[in-house]
Amino acid sequence: MNADNARTAIVTGAARGIGAAVARRLGADGCAVAVLDLDESACAPTVDAIGSAGGRALAVAVDVADEASAQAAVERVVGELGAPTILVNNAGIIRDNLLFKMSADDWDAVMGVHLRGAFLMSRAVQQHMTDAGWGRIINLSSTSALGNRGQANYSTAKAGLQGFTKTLAIELGRFGVTANAIAPGFIQTDMTRATAERLGVSFEDFIAFSAKEIPVQRVGQPEDIAAMASFFASEEAGFVSGQVIYVAGGPRA
Ligand code: NAI
Repeated sequence: MNADNARTAIVTGAARGIGAAVARRLGADGCAVAVLDLDESACAPTVDAIGSAGGRALAVAVDVADEASAQAAVERVVGELGAPTILVNNAGIIRDNLLFKMSADDWDAVMGVHLRGAFLMSRAVQQHMTDAGWGRIINLSSTSALGNRGQANYSTAKAGLQGFTKTLAIELGRFGVTANAIAPGFIQTDMTRATAERLGVSFEDFIAFSAKEIPVQRVGQPEDIAAMASFFASEEAGFVSGQVIYVAGGPRA
């Protein structure tokens, strides 16, 4: 733990969208937050928002799919914020296409960020958690893990993250470390905006159409996911591990 007794949290892909909301929420919960994304300057709005709310945050550039970059980012966090004991593996990309049109590069890129990225970041951080005898790893899965047209790569990665989460829970539980996954449904971010563009519909129409299919009759907001992440990261969630919670306005999207 660092000098002021705050937990240090790392959130990947935190420049925008769900990651930014999770970072802001953990900052409000009292964590010192490392805001990681591909471009350090793109992290500034998230860092500033946490700072304006009275919290402490640091922008760090990382490509989570790159072994040396992931390791260096974690070392920078240790040096400038304190040893991380909360990790949210949120960074993600989509490269959607029907199977017959999906390139091997589309497949590898998605596996690289979601699966290799979560593995590299978790491996780089775990020693700090086991040393502290306390840790929280939170992985972003998706309702797409259950299968989704045009997402053979993404759905495979998101299903893979569920197995990864359960295995981390089994391996690290004895060190006071829990691992859980959040599987969001439709969340209003740049990622779903890009999906609307690919489908050739306006984002507004895509949201309205999707909301009708969701039991609670609305799409999700990044804050809906941040609330779940806040719970998984909390002290009181210490007996919850290896779980996948669908945050989708219904049993699934
Ligand atoms: P987004 O596209 O708005 O943000 C993703 C962030 O990850 C971006 O800031 C991007 O620069 C960063 N990123 C991408 N590759 C990276 C890399 N190699 N290293 C570091 N950072 C990288 O996406 P959104 O919607 O906020 O999604 C966040 C997570 O939630 C993703 O894992 C996504 O798959 C998942 N998710 C999103 C859903 C949605 O409806 N928006 C639904 C289910 C899951």
